[in-house]
Amino acid sequence: MDLSTQYLGLALKSPFVPSSSPLSKRLDPARQLEDAGAAAIVMYSLFEEAIEADERLAAQLALQQDIGSAEASSYLPMHQEFPSQRDEYLEQLRRLKAALDIPVIASLNGTTRGGWVRHARAIEAAGADALELNIYYIAADFTEPPAAVEQRVIDILTETVAQVSLPIGVKLSPYYSALGHLVTRIEAAGAAGVALFNRFYQPDIDTGNLDVSQVMHLSGSKDALLAMRWMALLRGRVNLSLAATGGVHTAEDALKMLLCGADVTYLCSTLLLNGPGQLSRIHDGVVDWMERHEYASVGDLRGSLSQQHSPDPAAFERGNYLQMLSNYEPPKSVWR
Ligand SMILES: Cc1cc2nc3c(=O)[nH]c(=O)nc-3n(C[C@H](O)[C@H](O)[C@H](O)COP(=O)(O)O)c2cc1C
Repeated sequence: MDLSTQYLGLALKSPFVPSSSPLSKRLDPARQLEDAGAAAIVMYSLFEEAIEADERLAAQLALQQDIGSAEASSYLPMHQEFPSQRDEYLEQLRRLKAALDIPVIASLNGTTRGGWVRHARAIEAAGADALELNIYYIAADFTEPPAAVEQRVIDILTETVAQVSLPIGVKLSPYYSALGHLVTRIEAAGAAGVALFNRFYQPDIDTGNLDVSQVMHLSGSKDALLAMRWMALLRGRVNLSLAATGGVHTAEDALKMLLCGADVTYLCSTLLLNGPGQLSRIHDGVVDWMERHEYASVGDLRGSLSQQHSPDPAAFERGNYLQMLSNYEPPKSVWR
């Protein structure tokens, strides 16, 4: 059975890739994922805010040293003595590279143009096989028009592409008004792939103490339908590689993503909830299905239910909307 696939120009043994999560913060879980069959691993993100905080601290310490007396300043800590979050990230990247045989994809998170993208070069020097730009942005500034929001994605990407020769993927949320158009622009700006979609952390309200509560809700299989539709719409209409992320919990979820056109399926919540064994179960479930349906390779089945190949292309657009709404019957046990 040939499960091999290409993602961001990397030749992978299978389409199962643990996505960005705390599981890459330590070597043991990362090794367990490799042993369970992960084809690559995406690291947790290095955040623009963390880089900027490091830089502010370094500038502050340098200033203190400049203005203090020569004798006193020797007692002040040198900023090199504080390992910055950036340095810790680069160190973890080097450790993962040394410990694993699979490709390691680093991840930079930010939303503004600026100095933080130059850290892509340090990530490349530390040995990353590819870089994911995780653009996590809430358009809460109501004076900013959508074209400016999209342009910033392109600007960040263009600046990063100019820094490094690493393949670059862009991880997006679903909240763009013309996503297909944006993906074609991302491709034209030099990205090797897109990962769709990041799940936004959604603040909740605690009605007991009238406060905003911070709870991280993990996904379920139902959440996979959003990325699935977009895999189906994009397959065959863009040439960059496609990662499906969000709601892939079982072999069946992964298969649907592949049938719709994903090159790889990212796995996160299901691994956090079920451990590394879930990766082997998904792998084995996909192989079992392929055997039963007489597919010899993932390449043969990929995109066979994309919009371009689907027996019902309208299902991925508005076509079945009216039909779905009008055919819905509330349960008879509840409504007479
Ligand atoms: C605890 C946790 C931490 C995450 N950290 C990151 C991160 O640092 N960078 C990133 O791009 N995505 C991050 N994600 C998002 C996941 O990589 C993934 O895209 C998202 O959870 C949807 O996939 P899932 O339904 O399989 O969980 C995180 C998700 C979780 C649950």
